[in-house]
Amino acid sequence: MTRDDLRQYLEFYRDLGLKEIYNLAPAIPRSARPAGDSIAPTSRGRDAAGAVIPPIAPSGDSLLKIVEDIGDCRRCRLSEQRSKIVFGSGDEHARLVLVGEGPGADEDAQGLPFVGRAGQLLTQMIDNTASKEGIPIRRADVYICNVVKCRPPENRTPLPDEMEICGEFLFRQLMAIRPKAICALGSTAAKALLATKDGVTRLRGTWHKWRDIPLIVTYHPSYLLRPYNQNAKREAWEDLKKVLHYVYD
Ligand code: URA
Repeated sequence: MTRDDLRQYLEFYRDLGLKEIYNLAPAIPRSARPAGDSIAPTSRGRDAAGAVIPPIAPSGDSLLKIVEDIGDCRRCRLSEQRSKIVFGSGDEHARLVLVGEGPGADEDAQGLPFVGRAGQLLTQMIDNTASKEGIPIRRADVYICNVVKCRPPENRTPLPDEMEICGEFLFRQLMAIRPKAICALGSTAAKALLATKDGVTRLRGTWHKWRDIPLIVTYHPSYLLRPYNQNAKREAWEDLKKVLHYVYD
């Protein structure tokens, strides 16, 4: 393992919220391991500089396995008041994943992401932009999920420990889907995926990366619902156009 590989492994575990790692190298010789042992990486991507991106999900991971691992989650306080866990919806093989902040009241009741007013706007934005741009996709063709899977009380912003705990599952979702691009909706998603304190205004308009996957940041649809945000609406449409063309052209 090169120094770069090691650095990337450590960054990966840090992103998962692990503070201590005792033994990175498998102690059991490969030949003595049972078939299907998940220590060995199955798919190793490379970043732009050719460095190996470490696997960041258990081998053979799938959305179904992640749902099973989440189970009837009680890992943080958000579980106390939720009705339903909102895992995500859309195509497991989507080329584009959009990530929001966390479920609201409608999502909590239905167990599906972005089904309330902000969700209706998001659906319109995806469907109308794709149709105007001649891109043959609709909302059901992308995958949509949130940083936290349970509704924060009073729709407050998720707290850092809640984001950290649930972030493990978001990262696994992203690695299981391995989309061509990610769109972070709002500053909470940007913070979770880019480990930045910068706001959307500063982050939007250019490409970023989550691991080796190109990522664009745009405004959260709830923000666009406020009446005085004409400029932001126009910019959000531009962002969506950009990411749709990148992914589907
Ligand atoms: N806002 C979000 O961030 N996610 C949802 O699913 C709904 C509203």
